[in-house]
Amino acid sequence: MVVAIDGPAGAGKSSVARAVAARLGWAYLDTGAMYRCVALAVAERGGEPSAVAATIDIELGDRVLLDGRDVTEAIRRPPVAEGASKVAMDPGVRRALVTKQQAILRTGDWVAEGRDIALVVAPDAEVKVFVTASAEERARRRAADLGRDPADVLRRMADRDRRDSSGERSVLAPAPGAVHIDTTGRALDDVVDEVVALVEAR
Ligand code: DC
Repeated sequence: MVVAIDGPAGAGKSSVARAVAARLGWAYLDTGAMYRCVALAVAERGGEPSAVAATIDIELGDRVLLDGRDVTEAIRRPPVAEGASKVAMDPGVRRALVTKQQAILRTGDWVAEGRDIALVVAPDAEVKVFVTASAEERARRRAADLGRDPADVLRRMADRDRRDSSGERSVLAPAPGAVHIDTTGRALDDVVDEVVALVEAR
């Protein structure tokens, strides 16, 4: 079974997805980490992003390994986040990563988090959730994580949202049938309860 959790940066997807996976005892797939790995590899080695995406080896778990190297912290740096949002606009990169993600999700029970899980990667997901929060709350959370100025984060986030929802990909659109959850001002446990209840209902 697959639970798809999509939504914009800072909406609380990662915290919700991780906690739901832990609660259910299921595996957790962070697809954003894969786009971040491609951005890091391109920044370090150069090359055509789609070719890099098709050839690198990404291992996801407690630590993120890129061709065997631990990049868990490196991929969280702001320049890599910016790079990820750019390589994610490349249809060849998306095709390569979606193929890898679909292979991963084929076996077992998963909570998968990203932008296009319910629309593209796993349209047959049994539970689809679209998580949002106000722009101010999203910027505040990201700024706290990064130790940065919330106003600066808000501006960069608006740029990323524009890219993430531009062109042909529209990765920020909720899938038909997705349950919308606004996490603004809500406790994590409360949101996790709501998602777990949706899974149990299935
Ligand atoms: O969720 P995140 O911040 O780790 O994602 C990094 C970037 O990758 C973000 O700009 C959007 C992009 N992304 C995407 O286009 N599709 C996904 N399924 C996951 C992330």
